[in-house]
Amino acid sequence: MTTLLCISGSLRAASTSRAVVSTICARLEGQVSTMRFDIGSLPHYNADLPSPETVDAFKEAIETADGLVMVTPEYNYGIPGVLKNAIDWASRPAYASVLKHKPVFVASVSGGALGGVRAQAHLKYVLNGTLARVFTWQEVVVPHAAAKVADGFLVDEATEAFLLEGIQAFIRSLEAESRTPIGADPA
Ligand SMILES: Cc1cc2nc3c(=O)[nH]c(=O)nc-3n(C[C@H](O)[C@H](O)[C@H](O)COP(=O)(O)O)c2cc1C
Repeated sequence: MTTLLCISGSLRAASTSRAVVSTICARLEGQVSTMRFDIGSLPHYNADLPSPETVDAFKEAIETADGLVMVTPEYNYGIPGVLKNAIDWASRPAYASVLKHKPVFVASVSGGALGGVRAQAHLKYVLNGTLARVFTWQEVVVPHAAAKVADGFLVDEATEAFLLEGIQAFIRSLEAESRTPIGADPA
């Protein structure tokens, strides 16, 4: 079964990013295996720290997953420091890390009208620097996110349908890849 590791770029309990992640995990139950990782448990990046346990667990979760799903809010036109910190940890050793060639589906949220599209572009740019493979699809954004979430889940039907359409396309691409791994001779 395809395994997805889902990450929220916001730590707060009432986070709309977290609600989007929860909605994805709930709707995919039985179809794929979903894991979550709380990036708030990671220390600040410091190369002098001797392989912290949480970092090892994070890297192992990434390695185990067939694909990652990252839902980020926009903070000052970019991604939150906590998400950048997590990516920085996972990105070592440079260009040979668990992120290399890892497929990643990205979505963004914001309290404003643009749905965090600038943070989404920023996240994709940062992921490119790790050699992760950002899944190319229409940009899934959740503008005015607070009004589209209740009790920790998305409640806006149109947003949810569009999000899940993108996620299903992502899953199909992962399944196709597991049949014919990139670089393998299809014959
Ligand atoms: C430090 C900070 C900076 C923010 N900067 C932006 C911004 O540049 N653009 C934007 O649309 N919203 C911005 N917001 C609003 C967030 O996108 C909004 O609060 C969002 O719901 C946070 O995500 P969460 O619900 O997952 O915690 C900012 C919020 C914070 C806390």
